[in-house]
Amino acid sequence: MKGIAILGSTGSIGRQTLDVIRNFRHHFRLVGLAGWTNRSLLQQQLDEFQPDLACCQGLEGEGALLRLGKGRAATLEEMVRDPRVDLVVMAISGPSCLVPTLQALQGGVAVALASKEAIVMAGPLIAGLVGKGATVLPVDSEPSAIWQCLQGEPREVQRLILTASGGPFRSRPLGELAFVTPKEALEHPTWRMGRKITVDSATLMNKALEVIECHWMFGVPWEDIEVVVHPQSVVHSLVEFRDGSLKAQLGPPDMRLPLQYALFYPQRVANPKLERLDLARIGSLEFAPLEAGRYPCFTLALEAARTGGTYPVALCAADDVAVSLFLEGKLGYLDIPPLIQGVLDGHASGDGESLNDILEAEAWARRRAQEMARTRT
Ligand SMILES: NC(=O)c1ccc[n+]([C@@H]2O[C@H](COP(=O)([O-])OP(=O)(O)OC[C@H]3O[C@@H](n4cnc5c(N)ncnc54)[C@H](OP(=O)(O)O)[C@@H]3O)[C@@H](O)[C@H]2O)c1
Repeated sequence: MKGIAILGSTGSIGRQTLDVIRNFRHHFRLVGLAGWTNRSLLQQQLDEFQPDLACCQGLEGEGALLRLGKGRAATLEEMVRDPRVDLVVMAISGPSCLVPTLQALQGGVAVALASKEAIVMAGPLIAGLVGKGATVLPVDSEPSAIWQCLQGEPREVQRLILTASGGPFRSRPLGELAFVTPKEALEHPTWRMGRKITVDSATLMNKALEVIECHWMFGVPWEDIEVVVHPQSVVHSLVEFRDGSLKAQLGPPDMRLPLQYALFYPQRVANPKLERLDLARIGSLEFAPLEAGRYPCFTLALEAARTGGTYPVALCAADDVAVSLFLEGKLGYLDIPPLIQGVLDGHASGDGESLNDILEAEAWARRRAQEMARTRT
């Protein structure tokens, strides 16, 4: 049985991972579950799955109030370093995913990585660990699609083509974007996800983060990664090989499929709970070029990534603050890109190759974004 720890078990990815495991209980031993503030859901999960370890640090002192059954309380670090854990499913949203991801990889534990922020902030560090034998399995649907397309292929890749739904405002007149509300931004046309990634999908920050993720995961140069708009979210991404052949991975927009692929890799198993794709019912698949002017976050994020150093760290931290303020109604939708740009403009980059450097840049960018937001109002 594979020993699993799920960090971020109370979120969208965490819940869907548990849903897959529910169907294959005899394949997995659930060693650890970690939530943050949603103590009641974590408690339900602990009651149902009876893991060996539980972590709930978001509410001070509240972790101690959990009913742990035969298990015990643990920190995230203890959980990822527990010898019974073979695979960590990393599903913590935002920059807090970084440290436990590195701790797992440094300890020789494989990570099924949903939390792209970790690889965006520490691409060279994580690529270096993978170069020395650490295992990172993609979970995000686009990198998972690329990974699946690359199976059995010599790495003769010409281009990666990531698909993007275009988000809820793809056809909205640009003049109306100033009035976008958090409720509208949270209505993604094809995927049901956590709040931060849903807003990032509306601004297309999420797609830029995926480009960065694919650059570091698959070692493909920036100029060979393209994005195409595909509103149906059925083709999850494509690889073009040197001979001009394209391979695509298709499936319903359901994260349980890439999650299950990572959990069972390299096996494929039948899961009766997953819907099958009915191409005849879908009828047509559309593709269109990305209208970059509509999505300033996409452009500024890729500029930060290409510049390197700790710019991607500042980008992630500033975006995290900007999205939280937008969701709290304290920042307008169109104020998100200038806030992030302002933080990047004022950033004095380190080389981004040590954890210390990264954490300092993260703390600085978070403070700077909050100060800038305060002085705007
Ligand atoms: N959802 C998707 O379909 C999807 C698809 C691809 C990639 N991803 C990526 O997967 C990650 C998770 O996304 P999600 O949609 O599942 O987010 P989500 O629904 O907001 O869940 C986030 C999880 O992280 C926990 N958490 C938040 N802040 C934390 C902190 N500081 N320390 C420890 N735990 C913390 C939350 O705990 P509480 O809820 O208990 O507070 C929750 O369990 C993101 O990086 C996202 O980009 C998601």
